[in-house]
Amino acid sequence: MVTILFLIMGVAPTQSSANSDVLGVTKCTECHKTSGAVWEGTHHFSTFRDMPRSDKAKEIAKKMGFKRIKAGSLCLTCHFTSVIEGDEPKPVSGISCESCHSGGKNYLKVHSEFSGKKKENESADEAKARWEMAEVGGMIRPKAMYEWATNCYSCHTVPNEKLVNEGGHPAGSAFELVAWSQGEIRHNLWYTKTNDAATGDRKRLMYVVGQAIELEISLRAVGKATVKATYAVKMAKRAAAARKRFSKIAGVVDLPEIKEIAALAKTAKLKLNNGDQLTPIAESIQVQTKAIVANYDGSQMAGVDGLLPSEDKYKGKPAL
Ligand code: HEC
Ligand code: HEC
Ligand code: HEC
Ligand code: HEC
Repeated sequence: MVTILFLIMGVAPTQSSANSDVLGVTKCTECHKTSGAVWEGTHHFSTFRDMPRSDKAKEIAKKMGFKRIKAGSLCLTCHFTSVIEGDEPKPVSGISCESCHSGGKNYLKVHSEFSGKKKENESADEAKARWEMAEVGGMIRPKAMYEWATNCYSCHTVPNEKLVNEGGHPAGSAFELVAWSQGEIRHNLWYTKTNDAATGDRKRLMYVVGQAIELEISLRAVGKATVKATYAVKMAKRAAAARKRFSKIAGVVDLPEIKEIAALAKTAKLKLNNGDQLTPIAESIQVQTKAIVANYDGSQMAGVDGLLPSEDKYKGKPAL
């Protein structure tokens, strides 16, 4: 339900890595075995074991005043998926299915049972109603590109001033949605068995939507900057670069939502303590980005083909 609440409130959704809806990865892999096998080959999986052991992690945690990385720390929100035990989040794995698709409690059953029938006996209307119920239950499906991509960016930009300035944590990843989603984490293995990369149209849409979200999230991040130090500098650079890239996109794709985002970004003043100006701009960009996902499938965006990352830029390779 977390996502729905965020949609109503019109603020950026954050990763749903720890809430009472999380069931744990083994619930999902009962049916989705191959997705599980791919996931086990990713950094999202290995961070559970490797991150807390690294010297860098210990140093960051110490500077942040956390005695234990896996209990009660801020690290949980981005590095692990947690169930709630008692009142406390308890990490059970790295970043798993439910960090991206949302906690399964209220959709697991409904999405997987063909309206209580054999698959071939479920009518189109029943299937439609089933998916609607899964969405009401909070499920983030592949078609909800704005929602899942925002999840990626809300972890990967590391929008936390204290963690970066005082903890010395990396100030975000050089994240780009196509390259980062089509490598090691790709698991298009349910409807086909071949784990094909996204189609050309879908890659275009991912590229444009990713750059728009990069802009939104980095403007929000700059809006939270209060002191002139690493965080403020890195986030302002990030936002400036995102704005430049988006204006390039607006130059090659002639769609009203894209022009509007580029125009909104131009008005942003990238300075300290400017949340009052930047947050509303980010919110208007969010509205336009959701409209892009709703209105287009990428076939209208051939102009960005020259900007898409080539396959050798993809981050890692999927295990299957
Ligand atoms: C009992 C078996 C089962 C379990 C357990 C299960 N799924 Fe599924 N899942 C399915 C089936 C069946 C479909 C495809 C339904 C269809 O074809 O209409 C599916 C489809 C999906 C899809 C694709 C949705 C779309 O829009 O096409 C996602 C994502 C997904 N499941 C995620 C999960 C996650 C996350 C979990 C754990 C919280 C999970 N599943 C647990 C059976 C299961
Ligand atoms: C807002 C999300 C977020 C939070 C909170 C967070 N991290 Fe990270 N962390 C990331 C991301 C994203 C990366 C990957 C950065 C990259 O692409 O290089 C990362 C990378 C790291 C790395 C480097 C990984 C490596 O392979 O060397 C360490 C160490 C680390 N984090 C420790 C911590 C610790 C300790 C905490 C808690 C005090 C923490 N992180 C909290 C998002 C986060
Ligand atoms: C890092 C985020 C992330 C994680 C972790 C993740 N998924 Fe996904 N998953 C996605 C995205 C994004 C898509 C849609 C990709 C697209 O639309 O091209 C997807 C697609 C799917 C699909 C549809 C596949 C198809 O054939 O079209 C299923 C099923 C699924 N995920 C299940 C799972 C399960 C089960 C796990 C855990 C073992 C898992 N996912 C872990 C982000 C994630
Ligand atoms: C809950 C927070 C979170 C979410 C959501 C998330 N990531 Fe990550 N991701 C991380 C962290 C943390 C790391 C670094 C793990 C490590 O190396 O210790 C990482 C690492 C990665 C890596 C490996 C990078 C490398 O160094 O090779 C890829 C690729 C990646 N993420 C892609 C994605 C994509 C694509 C999405 C969205 C579909 C996504 N992530 C969503 C937190 C997240």
